[in-house]
Amino acid sequence: MKIGIIGAGNMGSSLGKFWAQNGHKLMFSYSRDTAKLEKIAQSIGENATVGTPAEAVQFGDVVLLSVPYGAIGDALKAAGSLDGKILFSCVNALLPDMSGLAVGTTTSAAEEIAKLAPGARVVEALPLFAEVLSSPSQRFDKLTATIFYTGDDAEAKQVVAGLLSEIDVDVVDAGSLKNSRFVEPAMFLLVQLAYGQQLGQVAFKLLKR
Ligand SMILES: NC(=O)c1ccc[n+]([C@@H]2O[C@H](COP(=O)([O-])OP(=O)(O)OC[C@H]3O[C@@H](n4cnc5c(N)ncnc54)[C@H](OP(=O)(O)O)[C@@H]3O)[C@@H](O)[C@H]2O)c1
Repeated sequence: MKIGIIGAGNMGSSLGKFWAQNGHKLMFSYSRDTAKLEKIAQSIGENATVGTPAEAVQFGDVVLLSVPYGAIGDALKAAGSLDGKILFSCVNALLPDMSGLAVGTTTSAAEEIAKLAPGARVVEALPLFAEVLSSPSQRFDKLTATIFYTGDDAEAKQVVAGLLSEIDVDVVDAGSLKNSRFVEPAMFLLVQLAYGQQLGQVAFKLLKR
């Protein structure tokens, strides 16, 4: 699969490295320092190239949006039309100082992104902390972590669930994009546990019976 990546920081580069190892082709974009993008692409090798956000959209069967919440407007403007594209957002609505969420429970980063990208088939998943993604193993002892994904387009969700399943995790369909209003605050709790309570690398595990 071809994956255009908008935002090549902790998440974009960790997910990108993961997918490139599994044979996907990547195009990294959107940095204030193009040399950074080149360096990431070079570290990945022949499966990675660099382009503008608009080129990444043209390139990708799937487009990953992995920028801070405050940059979504600028990034999506640079991306141009995403009409018909599968837009995988891993954006949480974190405030820049990580003291809280800019939106939550009445809307979500995912829904705001959908408004900014008309016609895009938005799926959201907030897949693990970047530190966990870039570790040799994504397991917690023997357990796989749970990743929730939301969206309103069944086919797009299936594609993103497939990409998520390549990580050693269990993926759970958390329903419509609207449910991101609850998934994002839940992920913010994990941020609080990891950094505020200094629990280190943490993740969710959904128990069912
Ligand atoms: N980190 C995690 O563990 C984690 C987990 C789940 C979800 N998320 C979410 O994933 C998203 C990305 O997080 P991240 O940790 O990967 O962030 P990050 O490391 O700060 O990466 C952000 C990327 O956006 C680029 N960018 C370009 N223009 C920007 C601008 N004007 N302002 C800010 N960034 C700009 C940055 O490029 P340059 O810096 O090169 O300019 C960088 O490549 C966030 O919405 C976050 O809430 C993160």
